[in-house]
Amino acid sequence: MTGGNGEDAAWERILQTRERLGMPRTPGDGSDRLREPADGGHSQLESIYLPLLRGGGLVIAQLGQTLDGRIATRTGHSHFVTGPADIVHLHRLRALVDTVVVGAGTAISDDPQLTVRQVPGRNPVRVVLDPSARVPPDRRMFHDHLAPTLWFVSPQADPGPVPGGVELLRLEVGPTGCGFHPRDVLRALVARGLERVLVEGGGITVSRFLDAGVLHRLHVTVAPLLLGSGRPSLTLDPVDRLDQARRPSCRQFSLGDDVLFDLEFDP
Ligand SMILES: NC(=O)c1ccc[n+]([C@@H]2O[C@H](COP(=O)([O-])OP(=O)(O)OC[C@H]3O[C@@H](n4cnc5c(N)ncnc54)[C@H](OP(=O)(O)O)[C@@H]3O)[C@@H](O)[C@H]2O)c1
Repeated sequence: MTGGNGEDAAWERILQTRERLGMPRTPGDGSDRLREPADGGHSQLESIYLPLLRGGGLVIAQLGQTLDGRIATRTGHSHFVTGPADIVHLHRLRALVDTVVVGAGTAISDDPQLTVRQVPGRNPVRVVLDPSARVPPDRRMFHDHLAPTLWFVSPQADPGPVPGGVELLRLEVGPTGCGFHPRDVLRALVARGLERVLVEGGGITVSRFLDAGVLHRLHVTVAPLLLGSGRPSLTLDPVDRLDQARRPSCRQFSLGDDVLFDLEFDP
């Protein structure tokens, strides 16, 4: 489900650049430069994704929300807030990272596979943050063997029998009931060679990573839809004045009827 030959070719170039990220570099051989398209100009795809492929680690989060800042109804129904172009975009993001992280709420509500199905690309390692081990063991990511799955729980949690293909990781939670510190999660991932991280949702999980100041980028896709109730997108530590608001640098792209806001932070 991609947009024709030009887009397919651009995506292939992006995937090739992504593959080269893991290769040893020879100084001066040009392997650290992004590959340019033959005609010298960047397509929208390259404008969106090539900035994600510069060397070093990456922590990017994404949310698809209504105009009034909701990511799901109050019952947790979220298929789909944003349109088909944003679904393809999400699969492209998955293909460009080593690992994709979701919170327990998303694992419970959506039973997501977190695989790359809409475009060519490799499946990332799946991670679920679930301190009290409340995610039911019948989730698809625990059984489908389509990619490794890491299940983060607290030292006190009792997850019961751990399904094959799932690695259980115990991590201390913070003292104030705010869960694992995102930096501890990232350290545990980097220790496994997982340096390129997509925090896919939901709102609570993305908010914690943003509040912890560990995000390099946040992709928020806004759909022309009003819910007026439901699960909130971002909920951050309150501020009293507008000059205390975060004002990251921002680029915008059209994704069908939706608008993608590509926010860049300096963690
Ligand atoms: N539109 C979108 O882009 C999008 C994307 C993903 C999901 N969704 C929807 O969003 C809804 C779920 O979102 P949500 O905000 O309610 O929940 P969520 O972020 O998926 O999960 C939140 C829960 O995950 C655990 N968790 C998250 N971060 C943690 C951390 N740093 N340390 C420890 N535990 C952590 C906690 O579990 P405990 O409470 O057990 O401590 C927390 O309450 C679903 O309805 C889903 O369909 C929408």
